[in-house]
Amino acid sequence: MSQRMLRGMAAGLGALVSLGSMAGCGTDGQVQKVTSIKIGVTVYDQYDTFVSQMMTDFNEYAAEQEEQTGIAINVEVYNAAGSQSTQNSQVEEMLDAGCNVICVNLVDRTEPTTIIDMAEKNNVPVIFFNRELVEEDLERWDRVYYVGAKAFESGIMQGEIAADAFKENPDADKNGDGVFQYVVLEGEAGHQDAIVRTEYAVSTIIDNGVEVEKLAYGIANWNRAQAQTKMTQMLAEYDGEIELVIANNDDMALGAIDALKTSHLNRADRPGASDLSREEWPVVVGIDGTDVGLAAVASGEMVGTVYNDKEGQAQAMLDLAYALSVGDTLDDLNLENGKYIRLPYSKVGSRDVKNYMK
Ligand code: GAL
Repeated sequence: MSQRMLRGMAAGLGALVSLGSMAGCGTDGQVQKVTSIKIGVTVYDQYDTFVSQMMTDFNEYAAEQEEQTGIAINVEVYNAAGSQSTQNSQVEEMLDAGCNVICVNLVDRTEPTTIIDMAEKNNVPVIFFNRELVEEDLERWDRVYYVGAKAFESGIMQGEIAADAFKENPDADKNGDGVFQYVVLEGEAGHQDAIVRTEYAVSTIIDNGVEVEKLAYGIANWNRAQAQTKMTQMLAEYDGEIELVIANNDDMALGAIDALKTSHLNRADRPGASDLSREEWPVVVGIDGTDVGLAAVASGEMVGTVYNDKEGQAQAMLDLAYALSVGDTLDDLNLENGKYIRLPYSKVGSRDVKNYMK
């Protein structure tokens, strides 16, 4: 029997016992059993590659849990499409619809107050995920939680991948000056992952003994097309000088690669440049390990990525949502400070990428 099945059975048992003690026994001594729960989810943008893959996993695990426990799990997913006020209205709708728990991928991580206040008034717990709010906001009510990852860890790992690429491959230093000339493609301004990843990636490369020089940066909001545009501009300005592209996520790394492919074709047209190979490209590093990101590592277009454990985060969010909905204990979930679940990252390079691909 799998770990997940065992966990599901234990959780189902918990629902029976804890509701019995919560609601008390009926006059005839019968324990009341939960037969269905409703989980409302709102995502900041349903077209975000990482978030949408995480939601696919979440729905899959909910279906498995339903099968194992016999408790119907209804999951409603809303797309806030980048608007905080739309998201607030969606939460109101979910509360009116009687959701037992609300999972929120905040549009604006500095604006959780309306949602927390509404949830508290209705006494419905809230799990924020992926877009981390500041600690003071998480402390506003005791039934507010966060599921995500350790942002700084992804930056450190990305920096290590880049530093190793520089040290292990002399071609990475194209102008041979002993300095790694880099550009950064950043996620949304103000997003914890964008700020922390960039900072830690760069400081880790330096800590690993590699000197760096920043040529340029562009904000591309986690988005491939925007990253392609920014990278095209940076290539126009710095052309062959760029030795490293640090992208805050895989989609932006892929946007950079799209731009490089175009520039490669143009270069091939120039006299004497027909034998340019992929090795003339800068080192490109991403974060996430999305399906497309892993494929780019496997093909060698991207030197490496950092796996953002969407399966682990989806499972943790489901376990927490389920336990909160049925009134089960949270003891087995190992919450940090009673509020946080943060999954670790891992490095992915060409050697081990196969282990991550489905
Ligand atoms: C990050 C992820 C990005 C993007 C962002 C959205 O954790 O690496 O690809 O999905 O979350 O908040």
